[in-house]
Amino acid sequence: MTSDSIPLFIQKALTRKLPPKTDYGIAFVGCGGIVNYGHIPSYRASGFNLIGGYDINQETAEKTVQTHDMKKVFKSLDEILADPAVEIVDIAVLPEDQWNIARTVIAAGKPLLCQKPFSTNYAQAVEMTNLAQQAGLKMAVQQQFRWSSIIQAARALMNEGWLGDILDAQVQVSIHTPWDMWPWIANQPRLEVMFHSIHYLDSLRYLFGEPALVTSRHAKNPAQKAKGETKTITTWEYSNGMQILIAICHYDWSPALYSNFRVLGTDGVIEGTIGTNYDYPDGRNDTLTFTSREHLEQNFSATLPGKWIPDAFYGPMASLMEAIQTGSEPVTSARDNLGTLRVVEAAYRSMNEGRSVNPLEITA
Ligand SMILES: NC(=O)c1ccc[n+]([C@@H]2O[C@H](COP(=O)([O-])OP(=O)(O)OC[C@H]3O[C@@H](n4cnc5c(N)ncnc54)[C@H](O)[C@@H]3O)[C@@H](O)[C@H]2O)c1
Repeated sequence: MTSDSIPLFIQKALTRKLPPKTDYGIAFVGCGGIVNYGHIPSYRASGFNLIGGYDINQETAEKTVQTHDMKKVFKSLDEILADPAVEIVDIAVLPEDQWNIARTVIAAGKPLLCQKPFSTNYAQAVEMTNLAQQAGLKMAVQQQFRWSSIIQAARALMNEGWLGDILDAQVQVSIHTPWDMWPWIANQPRLEVMFHSIHYLDSLRYLFGEPALVTSRHAKNPAQKAKGETKTITTWEYSNGMQILIAICHYDWSPALYSNFRVLGTDGVIEGTIGTNYDYPDGRNDTLTFTSREHLEQNFSATLPGKWIPDAFYGPMASLMEAIQTGSEPVTSARDNLGTLRVVEAAYRSMNEGRSVNPLEITA
């Protein structure tokens, strides 16, 4: 039996979670694509206080500020840092430019949200994290897939005990990715895991914890212009024997595309879809079918509310705000994100050295 109604505890888990104070003044450094179609729509829907932005391309900053009716076009990073109305700096530049900007923001004493990947250089990520900690500043990473409906619903089902013990999890995606949206990505030597699968890896850590071993194999489409890998198969193994499969292909020309998420437990199974991948960035809503082994009255099949892009983008910012006001750690803190970078680096080391890698091997 299936029911179209989503259980109440999942509906609750899918409700936007905001801390008591949300009026921190936010300014963007970098006003490109993702700020316009990810950050700003989600922040606006959350009622956040958007002051303005700076971009090395002044026209880009002006257009973004005007389009979204913000207050101020900043002429430099220093102007942002000197403005007392700016209480959180939201960086959305390429990872190789993020390091210097983050260090300057930390030195100026403002809390900050960095883009993912936090860094393509693990040692630099560790340095940024330690600098923020020494300065007593909250720093988080815009690793927002954790706030997508499918991941929040899966976590709620796990917490409620409907799945029992986890036996297996899989993310299997075969799509046609519009790499032209990011001209700079063609030059990245490490592409799929670093820029796309990193979202799944981060959320899988959030759901299931740190793997003991990472094994990864990478491939390219012979016709592609981009330097880096665009098809990857990664497996994670846990000390209790549980395995995870992440199999992603970005050059599927066929009409039979898929974007599936599956978790098998001793008591129930989740079969879902990650909707955004079907037509990035517009995409579809996520879907979820839950089947119980014994409690058939629990079974349901539903289209989940909201979309990964833009709806999930409020999450890392809301969590950073909560951390600032309570002294807690943001859910996607810089320190936590080092764990995500370790499994990313472990995947590349596995590919390069033809062996399984314990992420704890990755050190600065
Ligand atoms: N979280 C996500 O899901 C997600 C999605 C897409 C992109 N991203 C990440 O966001 C970042 C930006 O991606 P994008 O697609 O918006 O790229 P983009 O090229 O559209 O935008 C980047 C902007 O940064 C500006 N810029 C570059 N260096 C700067 C500097 N030193 N100071 C100020 N501005 C500077 C550029 O002029 C450009 O306008 C990348 O790191 C990418 O990996 C994350």
